[in-house]
Amino acid sequence: MKNCTCVKDILVSSARIDKRVTELAEQITNDYKDTSPLIVGVLKGAWIFMADLLRKVELDVDVDFICVSSYGCGTSSSGRITLLKDITTDMIGRDIIVVEDIIDSGTTLLYLKEMLLERGAASVNIATLLSKPSRRVVDIDVKYVGFEVPDEFVVGYGMDFKERFRTLQDICILKEEVYKK
Ligand code: PRP
Repeated sequence: MKNCTCVKDILVSSARIDKRVTELAEQITNDYKDTSPLIVGVLKGAWIFMADLLRKVELDVDVDFICVSSYGCGTSSSGRITLLKDITTDMIGRDIIVVEDIIDSGTTLLYLKEMLLERGAASVNIATLLSKPSRRVVDIDVKYVGFEVPDEFVVGYGMDFKERFRTLQDICILKEEVYKK
């Protein structure tokens, strides 16, 4: 494993991720059959999950990306969402699925969901690879969840610490001394 000295443990192996992503893709394919949803990936963390998920979804989809930041280089949400890159696809009347790597406090996804609905989306559902229910501070409905995970600092499969570790194949728990020093 790359950067393995910084990692305490594997939380979710790449084999388990693959199996669960297949299940989520089947669910989305079934729920959205005969429609052409707009899939909005939230950069940067969602890019690997989104690429794997959409190659298993058997639908005609449109794809776009949005980039927001609420954490910056810190380890807890600032609560302030900064829109760094907007989507360019016309969303009026569209059924949208927002794809995220992780939902923690829920602030980011609530902000995005409300923004997309205000702009005229017909519906907005959320697909997240990970959810940390114990960290939630806002009430938000998440339709597709890969794994519910404990409150550990996770990296890999798109997720980072200070832009490192995104390309690890497994979802790993970072050693405390790495992010607390
Ligand atoms: C992470 C993650 C979500 C957000 C979730 O983004 O990708 O967008 O935090 O946290 P919340 O539920 O508390 O709002 P981050 O700001 O770390 O950027 P990144 O996607 O570029 O890694």
